[in-house]
Amino acid sequence: MRALWPLFLFAFIAVNCMFAEEPAKEIPQQRLFLSDMDLSTAVQEWGKTQINRSIRETKLSIAGKQFDNGVGTHASFSYIVQLKKSVVNFSAWVGVDDAADSGGKSSIRFYVEVDGETLFASPIMREGDEAVRIDLNLTGKDILRLRVDDAGDGINFDHANWADAVFTYVGEKPLPGTPWVGKKVILTPKPGPKPRINGPKVFGVRPGSPFLFTIPATGNQPISFFVENLPKGLTLDSKTGRLTGKILESGTYDCMIIASNALGVVKRPFKIECGEKLALTPHMGWNSWYIWGEDVTDRIIREAADAMVASGMINYGYQYINIDDCWAIKPGSQDPTLQGQERDENGMINANSRFPDMKALADYIHSKGLKAGIYTSPGRRTCAGFVGSFGYEEEDVRRFIEWGFDFLKYDWCSYTHEITKEMNLEELKKPYRLIAEYLKEQPRDIVLNLCQYGMGEVWKWGKEFGQSWRTSGDLGLVFEKISQQIYIDGFGLDGLEQYSSPGGYNDPDYLLIGNLRNQKGQRVPTPLTPDEQYTHVTLWALLAAPLIFGGDIANMDDFTLSLLTNSELIDINQDSLCIQANCIAKQGDIQIWSKRLEDGSKAIGIFNLDNLFTKKAVLKASDLGIEGKCRIRNIWTQKDLPDLEGEMMFEINPHGCMALRVWKRE
Ligand code: GLA
Repeated sequence: MRALWPLFLFAFIAVNCMFAEEPAKEIPQQRLFLSDMDLSTAVQEWGKTQINRSIRETKLSIAGKQFDNGVGTHASFSYIVQLKKSVVNFSAWVGVDDAADSGGKSSIRFYVEVDGETLFASPIMREGDEAVRIDLNLTGKDILRLRVDDAGDGINFDHANWADAVFTYVGEKPLPGTPWVGKKVILTPKPGPKPRINGPKVFGVRPGSPFLFTIPATGNQPISFFVENLPKGLTLDSKTGRLTGKILESGTYDCMIIASNALGVVKRPFKIECGEKLALTPHMGWNSWYIWGEDVTDRIIREAADAMVASGMINYGYQYINIDDCWAIKPGSQDPTLQGQERDENGMINANSRFPDMKALADYIHSKGLKAGIYTSPGRRTCAGFVGSFGYEEEDVRRFIEWGFDFLKYDWCSYTHEITKEMNLEELKKPYRLIAEYLKEQPRDIVLNLCQYGMGEVWKWGKEFGQSWRTSGDLGLVFEKISQQIYIDGFGLDGLEQYSSPGGYNDPDYLLIGNLRNQKGQRVPTPLTPDEQYTHVTLWALLAAPLIFGGDIANMDDFTLSLLTNSELIDINQDSLCIQANCIAKQGDIQIWSKRLEDGSKAIGIFNLDNLFTKKAVLKASDLGIEGKCRIRNIWTQKDLPDLEGEMMFEINPHGCMALRVWKRE
């Protein structure tokens, strides 16, 4: 019997060939279960994606109906699939897993998004709701995303099953996809050859305090400077544009800066407010934390100052070189360079041996026309375990003044231990009140940054003590999550616009672009896509947030520099009204943010909050409260667009943005 089968086979083929006029072309349909795909690119906010079982590792079960096959996930969940135009169908049963045991607290929505369109959106589903069927024709489609969100009430108990989820395809097998990466495209034009004065138009100083301001200007060198109506006590170095001296009499001084080179002359008003207020526009500078952490040294700080000049950042208004944590002694450290006497016999704090001469360092920074910043904590220890200021606040302020610092970041850290009672508002204010009082007594201006991560709604009272206040935790705490954090901390400032005004700013942390230090301590490029970097800088500029670069200033590529040095974007950030933008319109994943500027124009950011699909946005003049024709300018490219009348359509890259400025035509 066994020997006969080749004969049958031959006969079968022969018969088939006789009847078939042409060889069969049809490629068979195949099936690929979601559970058989590589799910390592799935993103979910809690737990680990499970195959053929629930997130609680039990048999998949929705309203009593059990499934052998499927994927157990948790909100918020997202998984991208490249359909390769070969998938014809996707089907699944979705619902909350019975093991969620949530007592009614689960609530989720499932979505299937394809090529930018939502082809399926479930109703809000709760534990015990019958599974919902998905059955979609995907012929000719390219990219799909499966998504689960928390239905707007947080992710607790949001256990989400994609049961019997299967792709039917013909030809190429679908593969996992990744979010949009995009390209580094430099949009900022190179500065023109004629002079342009950049940065702030208003500057605050206290009577009798040493004055230092370097007029930021671009254009062919040499540029020479002149200032009309210069207040008594100040002198200008016409070659460097550096203003120094002391104004003894308080008052408002309306000056005019004139910058000229071989190709032209420009003028820009510059108001000096000599009174109690400092930092009349958001601070611009660099900070060592996100690139150097505990490795920071005197040499690194000097190199940062050199780089701020050599890169040209100083010509756009960047002025602070700020040392973060790790310059003091680290009690208990095994590293000899961090050991030593914490304070001298008079209680004055010592720097560690990596900073042999703090005064000389601050002098060096000043000699470049820049300002110097330092860091400490109101607790006994800083966040990285170095000596803090508790009990020595007055001595430390005196020391910083002696050394010649101009900026202080006062970081809560271990201060919680010093609070004996509950953490009420008075307790939260106490260390900042104390340090502000000592700062006020000094013959030198120190700008104070409150770093306490937003506790007690610091935006409501930070201004009583300092010039800026961190509104949230560390933007770069988890390196891989910087992008997500921008959307939480940056876009989360919507609604806090009333707390920003000249001399007091919401601070969502530093600009995390260029090279940064990752969790392993390696110095690597930012994890942000180029579009996300545009979004980060555009949003911060619109928020009137301090523009403090946190990357490696001594090793920047042209792209990073171009992001930091767009003069028209800086004008928006440094606008004298210091208004924080807020969200004025939402269109699905699109958000439009806007703020009013001193000249009556509006600055606008259009942001796509989706990281996978390009989205269309409609800018309506009516949303801006403007009627009639408007001049509209693309800020990144510094080019006018055709006039805006009624509305204008934009296509925005995934996680990308547009920065615009609109003026009503007369
Ligand atoms: C905290 C701050 C950071 C940084 C570190 C230094 O985490 O929020 O900005 O200063 O401390 O240890």
